[in-house]
Amino acid sequence: MTGFLELSGLSKRFRGLRAVDDVSCRMDEGELFGIIGPNGAGKTTLFNLITGTLRPTSGEVIFRGDRITGLKPDAVARRGIVRTFQATTIFRDASVLDNVRRAYLLRAMYQPGQLGGYREKLRSAETEAGEVLELLELHRMSGQNARELPYGSQKLLGVAMALATRPRVLLMDEPAAGLNPNETRALGGLFQRLRSRGINIVLVEHDMRLVMSVCDRILVLNYGRPIALGRPDEIRADPQVIEAYLGGADEIA
Ligand SMILES: Nc1ncnc2c1ncn2[C@@H]1O[C@H](COP(=O)(O)OP(=O)(O)OP(=O)(O)O)[C@@H](O)[C@H]1O
Ligand SMILES: [Mg+2]
Repeated sequence: MTGFLELSGLSKRFRGLRAVDDVSCRMDEGELFGIIGPNGAGKTTLFNLITGTLRPTSGEVIFRGDRITGLKPDAVARRGIVRTFQATTIFRDASVLDNVRRAYLLRAMYQPGQLGGYREKLRSAETEAGEVLELLELHRMSGQNARELPYGSQKLLGVAMALATRPRVLLMDEPAAGLNPNETRALGGLFQRLRSRGINIVLVEHDMRLVMSVCDRILVLNYGRPIALGRPDEIRADPQVIEAYLGGADEIA
């Protein structure tokens, strides 16, 4: 396996606060990489640094050998690094199909020439959106307004919209938050399907059972600092990790 997405000495300070503090790690192509840590550990900030939403105070983000540090979010997205959000970000008054179609068209507009004329873009938007909805098992709801969906399906719709941009890497920020156990199990299955399509997933998640069961390797942050990196069994047994979670709201499974 080759180094795919690499973080090197990545740091972000907000005034005096070291939200992300000297994080280095290499994610391999094809692996499902987890990032965990107590509330405020810097996980979302790390995503913001990778996607260009925030500029790092120091350090580098390297994607497939290219330095992408400091690129604007749309430039990072064009390279194939796309994120989902902790809260849902959907067009509530549009249909499920329309939501995904819009996300697809947005990408198509950014890449003129690749897909031919407008009419053709509309047609492929329709087809691609249908395929993505099927992948997420949302196709039966495609005519409904997004606001009518149960919360779990709304979150999945957010994932569908991210997928419509055809990412190479999907950064997922707490996809299981607010989902019921059935939806969470379905999410686990979805990860496997995405992976078999060659989409790399970086997963930030508090649901330890999910993280431990799906991730190949896990990075643990505490107060912005990496305190452990390894396979789930190594992480579970790591004294520093256990210590970081003691007394916190989170439990390590
Ligand atoms: N824009 C900002 N300005 C100032 N401080 C910030 C900003 N964004 C985040 N922080 C602080 O940085 C630290 C890391 O926050 P971050 O949101 O990355 O944590 P997190 O690990 O995602 O937490 P959670 O599990 O609660 O989502 C926190 O102390 C937070 O208050
Ligand atoms: Mg967060």
